[in-house]
Amino acid sequence: MFITLEGPEGSGKTSQIPRLADALRAAGHQVLTTREPGGTPIGDQIRKVLFDLGNKTMQPRSEILLFQASRAQLVDEVIRPALADGQVVLCDRYADSTMAYQGYGHEMDLAQLAELVRFATGGLKPDLTVFLDIKPQDGLRRRDADGNWNRLDDYKLEFHERVYAGYKALIAAEPQRWEVVDAARTPDEVAANLAQVVLDRLKSK
Ligand code: TYD
Repeated sequence: MFITLEGPEGSGKTSQIPRLADALRAAGHQVLTTREPGGTPIGDQIRKVLFDLGNKTMQPRSEILLFQASRAQLVDEVIRPALADGQVVLCDRYADSTMAYQGYGHEMDLAQLAELVRFATGGLKPDLTVFLDIKPQDGLRRRDADGNWNRLDDYKLEFHERVYAGYKALIAAEPQRWEVVDAARTPDEVAANLAQVVLDRLKSK
């Protein structure tokens, strides 16, 4: 089963994923965790280029293609083999991030992006996507306090508001694929809710 986690900046995905993996393993599942952009040696090199604060002249089209290059590598090298091996794959961000950030955030053409994403993934879609729901201003405040600032955080709040609204539109378009978890609670509360939601889905498979 292929599970992706999505959410705005500071939603806590990255710290929740190892905890979710532990909960699934405790229930007897074999779990592989990975992340985007990155997750492979080539993808990690692409990630450095994307997040380099010095790359001020990065063009939106270049950015889109770099995300897709990292994704294609991850799908072929890591995700498909793990799924073929019967593992549960947990991925920190995936195609929905392109639709939310580049599509809704940067207002690039959604149909064109969907086509690029299909090309990059070879059509591989998640069985389940969990949205860690936190309002953009609350997430950014958390993120700022952590000191984990990168080039892509450097956009205005309105950008993050569009991304958030974009996620809500993606969820409304495909409600059966998504679960929404309130991420504005304590890490322990979020972890418990997340594990319960994912284990329920795994049971019903
Ligand atoms: P990262 O440092 O991994 O943080 P996070 O914990 O928020 O996932 O940063 C990932 C950034 O890349 C985040 O700002 C979203 C952005 N992104 C896109 O804009 N498009 C994409 O397709 C992907 C995968 C990520």
